[in-house]
Amino acid sequence: MEFIYENSNVLDSEIAKYSKKIVEAHEMLHNGTGEGSDFLGWVGLEYDKEEYERIKEVAQRIRRDSDYLIVIGIGGSYLGARAVIEALSNNFSVKNVLFAGNNMSPDYLNDLIDFVKDSDFSINVISKSGTTTEPAIAFSVFKDLLIKKYGKEKARERIYITTDKEKGLLKKEAMSEMYETFIVPDNIGGRFSVLTPVGLLPIAVAGINIDAIMLGASQAMQKYESLQDNEAYTYAAIRNILLKKGKNVEVLVNYEPKLHYFTEWWKQLFGESEGKNGKGILPYGVDNTTDLHSLGQYIQDGQRLMFETVLNVEHPYRDIKIPAQSDKDLDFLSSKSLNDVNHMAMEGTIIAHTQGDVPNLMITIDRIDEFNIGWLIYFFEKACGISGYLLGVNPFNQPGVEAYKKEMFRLLKEDTIIE
Ligand code: PA5
Repeated sequence: MEFIYENSNVLDSEIAKYSKKIVEAHEMLHNGTGEGSDFLGWVGLEYDKEEYERIKEVAQRIRRDSDYLIVIGIGGSYLGARAVIEALSNNFSVKNVLFAGNNMSPDYLNDLIDFVKDSDFSINVISKSGTTTEPAIAFSVFKDLLIKKYGKEKARERIYITTDKEKGLLKKEAMSEMYETFIVPDNIGGRFSVLTPVGLLPIAVAGINIDAIMLGASQAMQKYESLQDNEAYTYAAIRNILLKKGKNVEVLVNYEPKLHYFTEWWKQLFGESEGKNGKGILPYGVDNTTDLHSLGQYIQDGQRLMFETVLNVEHPYRDIKIPAQSDKDLDFLSSKSLNDVNHMAMEGTIIAHTQGDVPNLMITIDRIDEFNIGWLIYFFEKACGISGYLLGVNPFNQPGVEAYKKEMFRLLKEDTIIE
């Protein structure tokens, strides 16, 4: 992975002014002296080796006995798995891992039921707290469906729970019903949990090599554990410098549709970690070149409030040679590599946007594979922890998420929902 910031409009001398703050943030993260220090388990990629092996065994079992695994969870309990599975699958393959419990749409749930009801399926309910409303509803619906389809005893063998090791309703039910259970480590918050059973079980069920993901992540961990040449820290500092210059929005840009959900995961990671106390960059995302024909107008020419971070993938798995064009106006495309054209579009866009006062950062990987995805996950998590501390917030809590729940529960209790 390579990180470059030559078009960021940030000088090395400005970054150098952050070096003391970076050392402080690094110490907070590595010595657990900052706010949220109970949630730093992800920094050292801690995991239980026995449980890790069990993830692989159970994934094989699910792949054998189920056409589909329905992953029931929301926020950090589903986005990481979805991001990795989408990134590492063929764009058009019918996925064997489906998602529920991340919205309250009856149409979505009914459509999913129709889609799986005549197939063999299992469910993996993921909730650290074990009390989140959206997954609780979806779990009750799919549990009923499983019991109707297979009977109570056989249904039990198709229910997998990922939750806290002792707290919460889900844990209580898992124990009383003897469901196979995986643990969300106490010291890892939802949005930092993709490299735990939360993400790894669904990812392994999708047939993806989780060892290679963990290898990428652990090499990134080693690379970014020192203060020297730490690109994650430089990225974190530049984000904060740009914010101070009035760049309130960061747009993560990809040119590969497979990375759409990676951007969704990244948005949650940074949005929930930094958006608090009236502070924080708003994380936003575009899928190019698609969005160049919609939001491209705003980015080029609207309010000057954003910078872009481009996720540049150098090589596709298979390129396409563009056929000879009969129209002379399109002849410049004849016999060109589509990957080259995609990259020309990227480079042209960077030139145009930087000329339009949109600073540009770029992260390059050679291809989208397990190793690089593992690396990127760790890179962004580390950058996010440091960036949050540089900003002066606790990156590991999410008090704002409670506000909507409080109002929703009040309305539900008053029964004022319109029928
Ligand atoms: O990052 C977070 O902590 C949140 O997004 C949670 O993952 C999300 O709210 C779901 O919570 P839970 O896993 O407790 O159901």
